[in-house]
Amino acid sequence: MTKKATLEVNGQKYEFPLSTGTENEVAININALRATTGGVTTIDPGFKNTGSCKSGITFLDGEKGILRYRGYSIEELAEKANFLEVAYLLIFGELPTKEEFDKFHADIKSKSIVDDDIRKIVDAFPKSAHPMGVLSSLTSALTAFNPTSVNVDSEEDMYKSVVRILGKFPVLVAWTLRKKEGLPLDYGDNNLGYVQNVLKMMFKKPNEEYQQNPIIVNALNKLLILHADHEQNCSTSTVRIVGSSHAGLFASLSAGISALWGPLHGGANQAVLEMLEAIKEDGGDTKKYMAKAKDKNDPFRLMGFGHRVYKNFDPRAKIIKVAADEVLEDLGVEDPILDIAKGLEQEALKDSYFVDRKLYPNVDFYSGIIYRAMGIPLDMFTVMFALGRLPGWIGQWREMRLNKEPIGRPRQLYVGETYRQFKPLEKR
Ligand code: SDX
Repeated sequence: MTKKATLEVNGQKYEFPLSTGTENEVAININALRATTGGVTTIDPGFKNTGSCKSGITFLDGEKGILRYRGYSIEELAEKANFLEVAYLLIFGELPTKEEFDKFHADIKSKSIVDDDIRKIVDAFPKSAHPMGVLSSLTSALTAFNPTSVNVDSEEDMYKSVVRILGKFPVLVAWTLRKKEGLPLDYGDNNLGYVQNVLKMMFKKPNEEYQQNPIIVNALNKLLILHADHEQNCSTSTVRIVGSSHAGLFASLSAGISALWGPLHGGANQAVLEMLEAIKEDGGDTKKYMAKAKDKNDPFRLMGFGHRVYKNFDPRAKIIKVAADEVLEDLGVEDPILDIAKGLEQEALKDSYFVDRKLYPNVDFYSGIIYRAMGIPLDMFTVMFALGRLPGWIGQWREMRLNKEPIGRPRQLYVGETYRQFKPLEKR
């Protein structure tokens, strides 16, 4: 028996089929709503109750604090996997065999040179430019240097675009950082692992050998895995809707980077550190900032707290909090900011405003503390988020294209002026 939902509008009843997912989530399929009701639509600002697609990539359970990539738990992947095999998993649906992994990595390495003319675009930016704006521009510019990347009517073409961007994106990330620091824009070493190569490209000084620190390599590997995908968040939805017009992969990713930049989204990891620093400067007065966060007349929010889906602890925040302690201890870094963060968390978890609204620390609350201990500058934190999220964006874009999904074009409820005649200037 097909399960149905019944909707009554102006005394008329309509039935709509229910779709049930593999985790027993239930959705009302309203594909035929407008046609069968003579024009009635729905409205749901922020899409808090509206699904945009069926996806087999990432599963979240906000109440239970569950996060899985293609069925594998984030806890296991963060502990046991390397970032590139998680990228393969998210994009192609299975963990790679050794042969598949080696070919994937070799293909990525073969496409990891960025056209030298892109340096001219990097040079055109002032050192004060925010790295997310630079990265979004450079990512979009890649289309001009790889024009066939837009023709993805075959899985083979799509694969070429995928390995191209996975090879070139870390170079763009490194060049974005090095430009700000006045360092030469160079390349890493194809003999290194993916994460080691990212670190070498970012931090190698022109007059020194670069020494890999396994603590930092492991920490970055874990952070990138934890950020790799998160179902239909703001930036991923942006990548999917831009790609739904059949814009190329690089243009779609560039749009996603811009969406991630916002402080309510990926930009929160930078905003958390700025907030914690302000609290530290203010003598550690966490109560003042808690009061500001609860004051409806104050636009200030407790950055790194709250989540659209998680109404329990963000499982990534739990893992990152433990990693923050370990990395700082292993690096011998004393950071009072970590203690302020923990104090703030303890206060918020006891405060009815946060408890009633189910506001818990999210992925951004502790990640910046580790990035800082690793020597990553504050305004590069969200760039690191983008580097982690890249395979998720690619996987979601590829799924949308393979499913031949229609162009995204939401409806609206018009609340403006009804018809009125034009008045010539002299009569206004
Ligand atoms: C990410 O979606 C994803 O999956 C995103 C992400 C990913 O991996 O892609 O997980 C990454 O973006 C994490 C979120 C990072 N952003 C922040 O840390 C910024 C601070 N958080 C808030 O801005 C907010 O919690 C959001 C944006 C994350 C979620 O906002 P919602 O779901 O739209 O919730 P809301 O604004 O409707 O808030 C509900 C209530 C409101 O109070 P009332 O009107 O009910 O009285 O909770 C309050 C809000 O004012 N509230 C907060 C708060 N977050 C929500 N009050 C103070 N501080 C906060 N942080």
